[in-house]
Amino acid sequence: MRYRPLGQSGIEASVVAFGAWAIGGWYWGGTDETQSIDAIHAALDAGVNFIDTAPAYGLGHSEMIVGQAIAGQRDQVVIATKCGLVWHTQKGKPHFQEYGKHVYRYLGAESIRYEIEESLRRLQTDYIDLYQTHRQDPTTSIEETMGTLLELKHQGKIRAIGVSNATADDMEQYRKLGSLDSDQERYSMLDQHIEEEQLPYCRNQGIAVLAYSPLEQGLLTGKVTAGREFAEDDWRTEKPGFDMDSRRAINAMLKEDFQPIADRHGLTFAQLAIAWTIAQPGLTHALVGARNLQQATENAAAGDVLLSSQESAAMNQAVRKRGLFNFTFR
Ligand SMILES: NC(=O)c1ccc[n+]([C@@H]2O[C@H](COP(=O)([O-])OP(=O)(O)OC[C@H]3O[C@@H](n4cnc5c(N)ncnc54)[C@H](OP(=O)(O)O)[C@@H]3O)[C@@H](O)[C@H]2O)c1
Repeated sequence: MRYRPLGQSGIEASVVAFGAWAIGGWYWGGTDETQSIDAIHAALDAGVNFIDTAPAYGLGHSEMIVGQAIAGQRDQVVIATKCGLVWHTQKGKPHFQEYGKHVYRYLGAESIRYEIEESLRRLQTDYIDLYQTHRQDPTTSIEETMGTLLELKHQGKIRAIGVSNATADDMEQYRKLGSLDSDQERYSMLDQHIEEEQLPYCRNQGIAVLAYSPLEQGLLTGKVTAGREFAEDDWRTEKPGFDMDSRRAINAMLKEDFQPIADRHGLTFAQLAIAWTIAQPGLTHALVGARNLQQATENAAAGDVLLSSQESAAMNQAVRKRGLFNFTFR
C-alpha cells in the first residue's frame, strides 16, 4: 500500500481508502453489520488506514459501524467524516427526502457544532482526522462555516478540514480563511469532469483530491452484467448508467480493451479501475466502497499497482473511442 499526504495537514493516508457509504445500507439495498465490520477489518489488515464515512450514510448507521469496527485501534486509522447534510433541523436547502426523513444542506455554526458531537459519539472517538463539508450550502456564508471548522480544529476535535462537491471558487473562499487540505469529488474514467476546474486548482494549491465512486458503483468491475439484479431499495435499479445498453457498452470495453492490461498485471477489473484512478496527476486518493471482506481485500491490493503512462493513456483512449467519456449520470 502506498500513502500520500492529506494536503498540508501532516496526515498520511493510504491511496486506497475504505468508502463506507454502502455499508450504511440506505440506498444500497440494506446492509449486513457483521459483513461490514469484517470488510473494514480486511481493509485495515491489507494496509488501508483511511476510512471515509458521513452522518448521511444510513443516517448515522455507517458511522456507528465504523466506530465499532475500529474500537481498540483508533490511533491506527485516519477517519474522514462530513457535516452539512442534516435531518435534525429544517434550515438550509432541502436536499432529498427518503423514508419520511427530510435531509437539508446546512452548514450553519450551531448545526456543525451539533453534528460534530453526534459523529464523535457514533464513531466512539474524541477527534476526527479529516472533517469535510459534504455539500455546499447556499444559505450560509463560507466565512461562518469555515470559522466554525477552525474553531473545532482549535479545540482539537478535528485535525484537518476538507470540502466535497465544491467549486474552485468555493475552495478559494475557504482557503482565504484558513488551511484547506482536501477536496472530495466524483471521479472515474467515465466521469472526468473535475479535470476542467477542481483538479488543476487542487494540484496548484497542494490540496489532496479524493475520488468518490471510482468503480462507478460497480459498473467498472465487470460484475454488473446484463443479468445482475439489484434489490428493490438499491438505487442502482433506476440509476442512469445501469441500463442494459450502458452495461453492455462498458463490459465490452472491459473485455476487449482493458483485459490485456489487467492480465499483464494480474489484476481484476476493479483493481485496474482503482489503479487508473490513483495514477492520474493530482488525484491523490481513491475512496472505494466495499460490502464484504473479499471486495475490501481485492480493492486494497490495487494500492500497490503502478500502471505505465502508456497503459493509463490507452485506457483513456478506449473510453473516448467508445463514447463513454463523461457519459454518465449527473
Ligand atoms: N462526497 C460525496 O458526495 C460522495 C458521494 C458518493 C460516494 N462518496 C464516498 O465514496 C465512496 C465510494 O463511492 P461509492 O460507494 O459510491 O462507489 P464505488 O466505490 O464506485 O462502488 C462501490 C460498490 O461497488 C461494488 N464493489 C466494490 N468493490 C468491488 C469489487 N472488488 N468487485 C465487484 N464489485 C465491487 C460494491 O457494490 P455491490 O457489491 O453491491 O455491487 C460497492 O458497494 C463512498 O463509500 C463514500 O465514502 C462520497
